[in-house]
Amino acid sequence: MSFDLVFFGGTGDLTWRKLMPALFQAFRHGKLPEGGRILAVARDARSDDEYRQFIRQRFDEVDAAKRPSDDEFARFAQLLHYQQMDLSQPEHYARLKRWLDEPRAEEGRTSPADTVVLYLATSPHLFPVICEQLGTAGLNHDRIRVVLEKPLGHDLDSARRINAVVRSVFKESQAFRIDHYLGKPSVQNLSALRFGNAFFEPLWRRESIANIQITIAESLGVGTRGDFYDRTGALRDMIQNHALQLLTMIAMEPPPTADADAIRDEKLKVLKSLKPFTRESVQRDVVRGQYRAGSVGGQAVPGYLDESKVPTGSRCETFVALRTEVQNWRWAGVPFYLRTGKRLAGRDAHIVVNFRPVPHPIFAGVHQANKLVIKLQPEDGLELHLMAAKGSVGHGSEALSPVSLDLDFDKAFASGRVGAYERLLLDAIAGRLNLFVRSDEQEQAWAWVEPILQAWNQDPIGPRPYVAGSWGPPAASALVARDGFMWEEEQ
Ligand code: BG6
Repeated sequence: MSFDLVFFGGTGDLTWRKLMPALFQAFRHGKLPEGGRILAVARDARSDDEYRQFIRQRFDEVDAAKRPSDDEFARFAQLLHYQQMDLSQPEHYARLKRWLDEPRAEEGRTSPADTVVLYLATSPHLFPVICEQLGTAGLNHDRIRVVLEKPLGHDLDSARRINAVVRSVFKESQAFRIDHYLGKPSVQNLSALRFGNAFFEPLWRRESIANIQITIAESLGVGTRGDFYDRTGALRDMIQNHALQLLTMIAMEPPPTADADAIRDEKLKVLKSLKPFTRESVQRDVVRGQYRAGSVGGQAVPGYLDESKVPTGSRCETFVALRTEVQNWRWAGVPFYLRTGKRLAGRDAHIVVNFRPVPHPIFAGVHQANKLVIKLQPEDGLELHLMAAKGSVGHGSEALSPVSLDLDFDKAFASGRVGAYERLLLDAIAGRLNLFVRSDEQEQAWAWVEPILQAWNQDPIGPRPYVAGSWGPPAASALVARDGFMWEEEQ
């Protein structure tokens, strides 16, 4: 199967930092279908060779293990092409169409590709104009797929507007909306855990589960992205998409098949079942924070307000913790706590499923309820915490001790694992939609966060400060303690 992959925003950060290294890995692993061409389009004038040079240099900034040797790069570079493009000019789209429709032998192809993937790695405000122009140029036929990078919109209204344009030009089955968390092997494992095993399902409900905690902690700050981040904030950047996607995968009903729409229908049902926020419940159940100077991993780091390109006095949140419920028969009354933040104590994404305590304890000593810790990153694994008898003799020997079953998926599946972007790019080329977000899912997620955005707009008290290197503002602990629970690291 031959393919053409076009990157709009071909010189941008996302392209050289994530997409090209991912493609190179796919190339190195022999996963990229034969007969492919990769075309980067961007504003400035460059030749193919100049673009190849640009990418070659940028590779020096990615992980050493992912860098190509000279020989590998020379072979990979043959796939790379460049076109200067003004995204508002119809004739530039016509030229792109000619390039796609009439490949030349020296580009390694004599007939049009079986599949054309148009990857919009630009700022989302350009999505409507690019889609409209693509439609006008006839670049929306059946062999075409369009990949839309997040953030897709800034709120419900803008997301709807973008989706309306996308839908007016492409069929839903041609639209691949990225949430790169879905491409992570550890996140795919959530479905495998729940629907590939009979073991958990009978327990996966309110009768057995006391609460569920989803944490996506980052140790990094906003780095050089201060201006983008300040317009976005943690709620839009992480909760509306990554954290909610994790929640849907934990809470969804078993889908009838593994088809993209069967899965997405169930995820949508979860989003529709989330308890809606009101102004009062935002006050009570949502904590926003902003980091102050502190130290992370032994290094002193500045506060958010001192990061480059962050406006003076910004009220942008770099931390969110919230409590919600999934209002259906399976989950009624079970709190779901979501938490994410920059400059927290470590890079650590995990989900904790806290089970209810035994109904009638007969052993002496402290009883810890069972819990399942699903580790998403940096490690990918599973810990099942149980109580066991030590078997020793003497005073207090009848007391139980906590032990854990520990599975390390990185070790178990050492070879053959692929990174998130590599996986998603290969899926887009192959036309597999399972790991992409449907427009209704996305709009529903926006609809759910919208009251939080509105309440914050009217709230005279900005985000609560927290020290870089901590686990966020103390109010985040209070949020969970109110229900009689603790975050994982406090237990
Ligand atoms: C991106 C956010 O979607 O995800 C970033 O825009 C964040 O702010 C990143 O750092 C986290 O991704 P990962 O894969 O490093 O956990």
